[in-house]
Amino acid sequence: MNQMKDNNKNLILGIETSCDETAAAVVANGMMILSNVIASQINLHAEYGGVVPEIASREHVKSILPVIDRALSDADISLDDLTAIAVTYGPGLVGALLVGVSAAKGLAAATGLPLIPVNHLEGHIASSYLADPSLEPPFLCLIVSGGHSSLVEVLDYTCYRTLARTRDDAPGEAFDKIARSIGLGYPGGPLIERASEGGNSDAFYLPVTHFSDSYDFSFSGVKTAAINAYRKIEREAAQEGRDWPLSCSQADFAATFQASIVEALVKHTEAALIDTGYKTLVLGGGVSANKKLREVMREMTDSIGVRLIVPLPVYCTDNAAMIASAGYFAWKDGRRAALDLNAVPMAELEEIIGQSTREGETR
Ligand code: KG4
Ligand code: ZN
Repeated sequence: MNQMKDNNKNLILGIETSCDETAAAVVANGMMILSNVIASQINLHAEYGGVVPEIASREHVKSILPVIDRALSDADISLDDLTAIAVTYGPGLVGALLVGVSAAKGLAAATGLPLIPVNHLEGHIASSYLADPSLEPPFLCLIVSGGHSSLVEVLDYTCYRTLARTRDDAPGEAFDKIARSIGLGYPGGPLIERASEGGNSDAFYLPVTHFSDSYDFSFSGVKTAAINAYRKIEREAAQEGRDWPLSCSQADFAATFQASIVEALVKHTEAALIDTGYKTLVLGGGVSANKKLREVMREMTDSIGVRLIVPLPVYCTDNAAMIASAGYFAWKDGRRAALDLNAVPMAELEEIIGQSTREGETR
């Protein structure tokens, strides 16, 4: 089927295996999703309360080829119809990344198609082009996930400057840790979100960390404070002979914890928006699926006259459509990887590998 090519559409196959989702997708011109296949391993890791890297790699090996086949068949195309193959090369778990990178290299070698290396975070940024095709850089993006909390200036489609990052834990990591500590399971974010419904978000004190000289985030303090508060609550509950004491239900605990994470994210983002003057804010990453965060961020952006773009929840968490979208802009920019492309577990947004035709861009 060559209809899309006949219409001058450039079809990119995106491949994503940086953590616990094996994903492949086909996207036309960076904005139109033709297929989006995600094989989640959440149930396998839930038993251990978090992602087990060895299990993740083995599952990616099992799923990668069927997932790619399915992405092509759902899009009703063959490999011949593709323009390029984009793959996440980092950051992420090295053994997990290598599965996607190896599959992409194999396909590129077999077909002669260009291989486009994509940074996972630029994928999370690109998910907003899928949400709103009218979006154009420059804008500010808050990426909040299991591994990251970054405020990024998106200067152009492939040019980024990180304004702030977390100095310790990522917010998703804090959600996951607290959910595990109070026996909710994994992944913590959606479980805390559900548990918080109807709860009092001011049930006890939790610190919100700010730095006077930067917009950086820190979530280890609130994580420890929440665990200490939970131990106190457990003691009270034992004295009262209940699961949770009358003074603080599970809903109150979850709502209070969630509110403190949301407050830190919203306050720092507001300060950065006011200081930099950006008129568009974009959210990305698994934690941006959180309803409370979306609601409070919307109130804040409305109050200061900033346009907010938030992807649908399925495009906030890891997926390959966002990698195909970012891959399209990188392809247009001339970025290419050779067949010796390797996984880079600590890859930085400002040091994306591959050659570019752009002048003056950091490589
Ligand atoms: O972006 P993502 O899928 O993977 C990484 O790149 O890390 O993010 C996963 C993280 C997990 O920590 C998960 O608990 C969190 O996103 N998350 C949420 C929600 N959905 C996923 N956190 C808060 N609220 C949610 N609804
Ligand atoms: Zn992610």
